[in-house]
Amino acid sequence: MKRICNKTISVVLAVIMLFTAAIPSYAMTKPLWDAYWQTDEAHSGITMFPGSDESERNFTWYTETQSTPVIEIKKLGASSGNSVQGECLATKDGRYVNYVTVTNLEEGAAYSYRAKSENFESRWYSFDTEDDNSFSALYVTDVHVSYDDKNESHLSDTAYSFNQVIEAARMKNSSLSLVLSAGDQASEGREDEYIGFASSPAGRTLTFAPAIGNHDRKGIAFKTYKNFPNEQKNAMVSSYIGGNYWFVKGDVLFLVMDTNNGSGTDHAKFIRKAIKENPDVKWKVMMAHHDLYSGRIPRRESENQFLRLLWAPIVDQFGIDLVLLGHSHYYTVSNVLYNSKTVSPLENHATITDPAGTIYMVSGSLNRPRDEEEIGLSENIGIDYLTQEKIYNIIDFKDDSITVKSYTLESNEMFASYTIEKTSKDGGHPDKMTAFYQPIVRFIGTIYAFFNNIGVYSNLKEDGIDIGFFEAIF
Ligand SMILES: [Fe+2]
Repeated sequence: MKRICNKTISVVLAVIMLFTAAIPSYAMTKPLWDAYWQTDEAHSGITMFPGSDESERNFTWYTETQSTPVIEIKKLGASSGNSVQGECLATKDGRYVNYVTVTNLEEGAAYSYRAKSENFESRWYSFDTEDDNSFSALYVTDVHVSYDDKNESHLSDTAYSFNQVIEAARMKNSSLSLVLSAGDQASEGREDEYIGFASSPAGRTLTFAPAIGNHDRKGIAFKTYKNFPNEQKNAMVSSYIGGNYWFVKGDVLFLVMDTNNGSGTDHAKFIRKAIKENPDVKWKVMMAHHDLYSGRIPRRESENQFLRLLWAPIVDQFGIDLVLLGHSHYYTVSNVLYNSKTVSPLENHATITDPAGTIYMVSGSLNRPRDEEEIGLSENIGIDYLTQEKIYNIIDFKDDSITVKSYTLESNEMFASYTIEKTSKDGGHPDKMTAFYQPIVRFIGTIYAFFNNIGVYSNLKEDGIDIGFFEAIF
């Protein structure tokens, strides 16, 4: 027994040494991960979310007791820095969740931070702020960190595979600074699943921007996990666990939308306001959960038709350059689309200059690759890839281009890429409303969303999750 304890301690110490190295490497073998999983550090759920822009970051972490949370932050290598306080609230699962917002970060600087609460002090993690419009993001979807009451190790295993993907992406691109996760971070919407999602030490050096997936709505833990900037306020109908939010990084306005919510009137209003508040950004990237165009799962086509009817005109009207999606668990990239039709084809490894429409991309699920016998494929798809391997994507944002490169974890090889170039702020995208009746369609979506939320409220209640009726609907 003593030998096992000593062995475990040595492994944990090895992890600590990795964490305190000058240039940290977070690569972990499974035994090392299993030892790490036993620590409070692993279960603290520390997540760095975006702030409004590059000068801010929002933090969340969990504790067993209530106290005033503090983020200690300093320039990398400095002996002192700032202590920023936040607030601590009780969650419905019996934990406490801590929120801190750090502001006034300098451009082009390297920082290190740690989270502190009563009885908890995290390790130091480092991150960089950008000083120009070039940065890289990891785009994943349907990570599905999953709790399984019949398989005790499943939560740790699915969290580990996400850690491996994050680390592989960091090794591919050392300037990676952002994670775009297009929903279904969790499978049951449980707090311990979000804690698993946030357990990767490598992930704590990156800023996380997740969208709400349908599985995230199976519980209510996402509501207390998220710490988003610029969330939509006063929507007519919104989801209980969160809604739309935006942030700016480099020359990109990221619009993270909740496609579980059909309230088209609210969505259009939100995007219009976000663009109005950021008139000078060159690129508009939308991320949401539901696959719109792939046609991979024929049994979902009626739902997809409804979603396209609502979302395609919004994307067209506001001149969105790129839409990042998930949900189907199949990798597809559309041609350049406008008014739901192909305006120019997209081939693998192509560069498209000033596209007269939008590219819609769906990545594969990390922990739940799908392999159905009956799959379809829409004629609007330019690049597709079928695999049981874990797909991740690195997106390089620059002044004049966005390049997407797709890999699998197992092969460590790039299997697809494409580049969008714009020679001016507006590029070639028309930005007019495609039909005069769109406001009516959007309002019908809002009425639908209202009744859908009543259904969600009832389902949660049946599952023993009792939230206020008005809180659930509006
Ligand atoms: Fe999913």
